[in-house]
Amino acid sequence: MDEFVRLSFHGLRAKDKSFNSDFKLELDPDLPKVNVVASDIGRVILNLVNNAFYAVDEKAKSSSLPSRNIGTGAEGGEVYRPLVKVKTTVARLFSGGLAVELSVKDNGNGIPEHIREKIFQPLFTTKPTGQGTGLGLSLSYDIVKAHGGELKVESSEGDGSTIIMHLPF
Ligand SMILES: Nc1ncnc2c1ncn2[C@@H]1O[C@H](COP(=O)(O)OP(=O)(O)O)[C@@H](O)[C@H]1O
Ligand SMILES: [Mg+2]
Repeated sequence: MDEFVRLSFHGLRAKDKSFNSDFKLELDPDLPKVNVVASDIGRVILNLVNNAFYAVDEKAKSSSLPSRNIGTGAEGGEVYRPLVKVKTTVARLFSGGLAVELSVKDNGNGIPEHIREKIFQPLFTTKPTGQGTGLGLSLSYDIVKAHGGELKVESSEGDGSTIIMHLPF
């Protein structure tokens, strides 16, 4: 998680010097080992984190508040602080089993209700040509499913999104 969050952040910074966001890692140091295809799960994490940074950047760009300001708001005004939180923990599944939970939470604009069930479909994207392929989440879904896991989305419009991955062990 740590590696891919940094990779995503610096990749986006390299492409767009004005991109900025805070990120927080809350990683459980006592997670059990899970058997995964590391490169595939790495790709899933990268997809989720890229989407999260994109979402906060969109909000920063469109915000009427002083945008991209992750400082203290020295002028006394309200500022939007882009933030991506990445977390790992152990979770109990509805089925009763245990899983490692990896979640990526952003405070971007959220995912409108009417597109929420479409975001895992191949080629579904709301991004302009050249910025999105619409393959990130569908590929991620397939990879997680191949691991016997699940990928879920929680979002309240305007309030950001959380994508949660469960990998059973
Ligand atoms: N964190 C997020 N916040 C808001 N919308 C999101 C987020 N993650 C995914 N989406 C929505 O889901 C769509 C599909 O995502 P994805 O499969 O990764 O394709 P892409 O990023 O190429 O558009 C995005 O275009 C966007 O509309
Ligand atoms: Mg994507």
